[in-house]
Amino acid sequence: MKSVLLPDYNKNVLRAMLGLKISDLELPVLKEDEVLVKTEAAVCNPSDIAFIQGVYNIIKPLPAIPGFEAAGVIVDEGKRVQGLKGKKVSAFVQSNDSGTWSEYFVAKTSDIIILDDKMPDDQAACFTVNPFTAYGMFQKAKHIKTPAIMQNASGSQVASFLRKMAEEAGMEVIDIVRKEETASFLRDEGSKYVLADSDENFDKKLRQLCKKLKPHIAYDAVGGSLSGKMYNSLRPNSEMIVYGGLSNKPMNDLNVMGAIFHNKIISGFNLIDWKASLKEGNFEQISIHLQSKFIEGVYKTKIANTVDIDSILKGLKSYLGNMSAGKLLIKP
Ligand SMILES: NC(=O)c1ccc[n+]([C@@H]2O[C@H](COP(=O)([O-])OP(=O)(O)OC[C@H]3O[C@@H](n4cnc5c(N)ncnc54)[C@H](OP(=O)(O)O)[C@@H]3O)[C@@H](O)[C@H]2O)c1
Repeated sequence: MKSVLLPDYNKNVLRAMLGLKISDLELPVLKEDEVLVKTEAAVCNPSDIAFIQGVYNIIKPLPAIPGFEAAGVIVDEGKRVQGLKGKKVSAFVQSNDSGTWSEYFVAKTSDIIILDDKMPDDQAACFTVNPFTAYGMFQKAKHIKTPAIMQNASGSQVASFLRKMAEEAGMEVIDIVRKEETASFLRDEGSKYVLADSDENFDKKLRQLCKKLKPHIAYDAVGGSLSGKMYNSLRPNSEMIVYGGLSNKPMNDLNVMGAIFHNKIISGFNLIDWKASLKEGNFEQISIHLQSKFIEGVYKTKIANTVDIDSILKGLKSYLGNMSAGKLLIKP
């Protein structure tokens, strides 16, 4: 099978990308509880970029096939698996000896979601991670009935799902981005309260919006000093949920008094832990609900570019050049 291979981790993202090789590998031998998936499309997420840099929480023995997420069709099954051949699936795979940037990949049955045949193929490739992350994180906002939410990295796909869920729940959204062009794009799409953190009056504008809209939940995917600015502008009895570290910087400048005297909480969200915390059958119900939203076209991951395995470098460069434009799909 044709696969992308990572020979070495490199903190310098360009060097990590330039090091990637295209290899012809033997088809893997399945263990009892595994299936072999023929890849329809794999996706590139920020976690894949962090992985090839060696700064993600998954470190695989090298050489390794990158890629954690994809969709495809099951073409073979291990001895303890029955009746899955031919099924269309989305998968999230983090095992040492498999990766999705490949013509075929191996998944455990717990790594896959069996899809409704009506699920659009490209959307299926990006289904297992971001929609569930947004859904899981949004439950807190719904539960406390906050009138508004605040989020950064608002050009991202997780942020676009959170925005949609807030709209469905009748909540306002304060969106924060790093580039003015992304801010204009979001405003053109209908977002009402968009701030670029490069704006010299950003701090003041953020405080004013928080006073007006009263968000009690903030979603932070960036870290660095932006974490402090968001946390400090939240009202008393609020929570900031941290789910990404896109700046690669520690969270800075958080006001101590907010935690002591205003009951402002910081928590973390991790999709895998959230999934493990659900009651039996709940994940499947959520999956059916989310799939129906994709099939109806209400939820959609924006796809910016599609490349074949041989053009992986070109694709990664274009994704990193404008991540808010949408996802990179890799189609073998
Ligand atoms: N905790 C979890 O379980 C979980 C699950 C899924 C995703 N995530 C995290 O969620 C975040 C968004 O993922 P995604 O797949 O939705 O992203 P995406 O669609 O690929 O877009 C990435 C976004 O991040 C922005 N960005 C990149 N570096 C940034 C920086 N240094 N400062 C501010 N903004 C920056 C990009 O803006 P530009 O256009 O300006 O580059 C772009 O809007 C990531 O941090 C990801 O790791 C976490």
